[in-house]
Amino acid sequence: MIRSMKQLPLEGRRVFLRVDLNAPLSKDAIPAVTDDTRIQAALPTIKHCIERGARIILASHLGRPKGEATPKLSLEPVAGRLAELLNCEIRLTDEPVGDGARKVCSDLREGQIALLENLRFNSGEKANDTKFAETLASYADIYINDAFGTSHRAHASTAGMVSLVNERGAGFVMNKEIEALGKLLNAPKTGYVAIIGGAKISDKIDVLDALLSRVETILIGGAMANTFLLAQGKKMGKSLVEDAKVALAKNFLRKASQKHVTVMLPQDLVVADNFDDATGTVVSADEVPATLMALDIGPEAAARYADAAKHARTLFWNGPMGVFEKPAYAEGTFVVAKAVADNEFGYTVVGGGDSAAAVHKAGIANSIRHVSTGGGAALEFIQGLTLPGIAALEIDE
Ligand code: 3PG
Repeated sequence: MIRSMKQLPLEGRRVFLRVDLNAPLSKDAIPAVTDDTRIQAALPTIKHCIERGARIILASHLGRPKGEATPKLSLEPVAGRLAELLNCEIRLTDEPVGDGARKVCSDLREGQIALLENLRFNSGEKANDTKFAETLASYADIYINDAFGTSHRAHASTAGMVSLVNERGAGFVMNKEIEALGKLLNAPKTGYVAIIGGAKISDKIDVLDALLSRVETILIGGAMANTFLLAQGKKMGKSLVEDAKVALAKNFLRKASQKHVTVMLPQDLVVADNFDDATGTVVSADEVPATLMALDIGPEAAARYADAAKHARTLFWNGPMGVFEKPAYAEGTFVVAKAVADNEFGYTVVGGGDSAAAVHKAGIANSIRHVSTGGGAALEFIQGLTLPGIAALEIDE
């Protein structure tokens, strides 16, 4: 059983709140948050702690520093944005643990907030080091994990420290994700459509394999579709392909057919010399010119995928259909996004990362039943895997 934070005695207590504030930053000399979706998502949990008079110790990682202080990955811009959104002071510590951090945490009054500097500035975080976990745990009386997006990592702040704090529970984001994504694990196979895109088969093969026993139809887009098309004997010109994964792709297509799962690949593609070309040309997937590369699914494929997406009874989407950051190659992704939003009766879920960014950019996130805050975490969850950050919250009834 996992307790909700509402069941925990937060009043006056020091609450260690693990949040996922891993937000994208601009490359300016003074970096700024460029997308505050994850910060916004954490607000209800933080506000609940403030209202209950907790002394709040927020903790997060940002990016992938190598276990040492890396100024451009400081949580400072995140603290600034959070202070604006909450309209209150956020006391950012000078390092994740140490005398300074301890003092900031122990000086907190009821309703006040400290933010530990980027946990990954200390190598103990990723190593799930016992000493680091003990130090973090010593700052607090209660542990709450609201960082669903990091729950697939067995790190000190998500796993190691949890049993070292007296009481533990899940925040609102974590509870909502478990409930919303959990419905996909129990969804009937009939009418369950998965749309999987992105650059590499190697990143998605585990989820594709797991989906074979859960779904009826899989639509594949993005550069990973190139390798599947290559596996079908098509010539892909200069397109990004994973030659070493062709056998894996063939094997997957064979398994899908044995399990009666329909796998759709794009029948047409938008091709160009490179992704800086201002416009692309639509060609059949059978006729990619030797000198060009596929950068998006074509309009016929987009229409076919959109039709499947609109009529699915259950739908999971992860990964863009093309190089959607470039307007000339974004059409496939946005046509699919719109179709997912237009699906009125089905249970529609977008699993984090770039596809979540695309639905936010298209302004249609509100028409989708659930847009996950987790990328890798959502992919692991929908495979039915045990996520260490969630497992650590379990207590005996
Ligand atoms: C994410 O962005 O998916 C999470 O914050 C986890 O980050 P990580 O992949 O660097 O562990």
